[in-house]
Amino acid sequence: MIQVRLMTADDAEWAAELEQKYFSAPWDAHDFVHDVENDYNIALVGEVDGERAGYVCLWQVVNEADIANIAVDEKFRRNGLARQLLMTVMEQAKAKTVDTFFLEVRESNVPAIALYESLGFVQIGTRKRYYEKPTEDARVYAILPEVTK
Ligand SMILES: CC(C)(COP(=O)(O)OP(=O)(O)OC[C@H]1O[C@@H](n2cnc3c(N)ncnc32)[C@H](O)[C@@H]1OP(=O)(O)O)[C@@H](O)C(=O)NCCC(=O)NCCS
Repeated sequence: MIQVRLMTADDAEWAAELEQKYFSAPWDAHDFVHDVENDYNIALVGEVDGERAGYVCLWQVVNEADIANIAVDEKFRRNGLARQLLMTVMEQAKAKTVDTFFLEVRESNVPAIALYESLGFVQIGTRKRYYEKPTEDARVYAILPEVTK
């Protein structure tokens, strides 16, 4: 069973380990603690049958929010956890007056692009050479106010 809850500082080391596995410029545990402690950020953990399986972090600036990162442990993928994490964090952000969502994704990241498009994100631009290790363009996606209302 999938459950989504707020991240706590106790989750920071675990989340940083997943970052090391799946990102070439990983956040460290301090980055996650900062997110947990900042009122303008929302960090959630998804559990499958009581085991930590994935996380999402959102940064809010007034009515706008950026999906800063999301990852699901390989052994728990394709079970709808990332979709649940995104839907939950966006609902919580909307309850705090957010009406616009942005995110960046590597052009080659087929799973993440499919996930975002399945949730209604629309590509609004490209950031050239945004990523390093390896260098790659980012697609910029958004859900704009008229869609979220
Ligand atoms: C992207 C990621 C978070 C998806 O997590 P997940 O829990 O497996 O995703 P879900 O099961 O919620 O999938 C939801 C939808 O996303 C799409 N999707 C997910 N993985 C996919 C894949 N490997 N290939 C194609 N589509 C995929 C599908 O549309 C899927 O719906 P469906 O299963 O009903 O077809 C996961 O692959 C991951 O952690 N990747 C490494 C980190 C990363 O790239 N994060 C994003 C940075 S921008």
